[in-house]
Amino acid sequence: MLKEIFEQPKNIKDALRGRILNNPERIKISSLEEFIDKFEKAKRLVFISCGTSWHASLLAEYYFEELARIPVEVEYASEFRYRNPIINQEDIIIPVSQSGETADTLAAIKLAKEFNPFLYGVCNVVGSTISRETDSGIYIHAGPEIGVASTKAFTCQAVVMLMLAVDVGFRLRKVDLVKYNTIVNELLDLPNKVENLLKESNIVLDIANKYKDARNFLYLGRGYNFPIALEGALKLKEISYIHAEGYPAGEMKHGPLALIEEGMPVVVIAPRDEHYKKTISNMQEVISRGAKVLLITNKSTDEIYSENIWEQIEVEHISDELIPFLTTIPLQKLAYYSALDKGYDIDKPRNLAKSVTVE
Ligand code: AGP
Repeated sequence: MLKEIFEQPKNIKDALRGRILNNPERIKISSLEEFIDKFEKAKRLVFISCGTSWHASLLAEYYFEELARIPVEVEYASEFRYRNPIINQEDIIIPVSQSGETADTLAAIKLAKEFNPFLYGVCNVVGSTISRETDSGIYIHAGPEIGVASTKAFTCQAVVMLMLAVDVGFRLRKVDLVKYNTIVNELLDLPNKVENLLKESNIVLDIANKYKDARNFLYLGRGYNFPIALEGALKLKEISYIHAEGYPAGEMKHGPLALIEEGMPVVVIAPRDEHYKKTISNMQEVISRGAKVLLITNKSTDEIYSENIWEQIEVEHISDELIPFLTTIPLQKLAYYSALDKGYDIDKPRNLAKSVTVE
């Protein structure tokens, strides 16, 4: 897993390779070009996926709604397949899967096909069943992922989703040229930014050590960083067997706040985006109830507006859409070092299989 975490700059480059033309920089995804009319006319996108791929799909919902203004549903394949879902011919169904062999996602595709919508797959494994069962799609080019806990596939899924969303948004005139250029150029520079972040001193190792006796963790985020909170919590529970939950920071008052007691670790993902002040205020609420907060934010000369933050990690400044690529890295490392500290078999966690090909 550590190797796969550190491979991410290269994987991101591979996911971008050949998909951004030079002078001027323009996204060119052949499968999107071929079926652009479907995306331009789509009334709704329905993502179907499981686990980490579901978290990437949730991030895609934020991207597509914000950048392309197309309504999106994000479905757990395991629920979708047993519901009586409403699917229209103007819907695009987007199964997202690293392996391309997940049984629930395949069953959901089979059900969706009964309604005859356009199916556009997002897969890693070339020639996998899901890539064959869809009408078209895009490979994320993350390379073989061996660790059961997905890291680089998540990052590459998110890269591809952002490329798709901004390109469709630009074509639909929902994204202006300035915004489009900013995102495209920041995507091109992303491998460097991730590389620098990975090289930074191993503060996460010390943090994992300090939290090592914790039995419960909460991860909080808003906006693009809510799916990152869910993914961070999933990584921790999968390999270090610590109970962890991700929540939208604004949901705390609706129940989870009752869990906070002296010494409870809470990871707060609060980059300086439009949600910053609100998330920091949620953070203060948990600090005042005794939580030990690890704040993940981005570098800025502005103050943080809170005291008694236990630990803090600052990532580079980048557009809001790309911040999740940076905030997710320390969370992957936190899960890794927590499991390492406990001596667990990180690449083969108990009770889990890399590819869930049976129900
Ligand atoms: C992620 O760390 C998991 N091991 C798991 O949630 C995985 O993402 C899920 O089983 C879906 O797999 P897929 O992407 O291969 O369809």
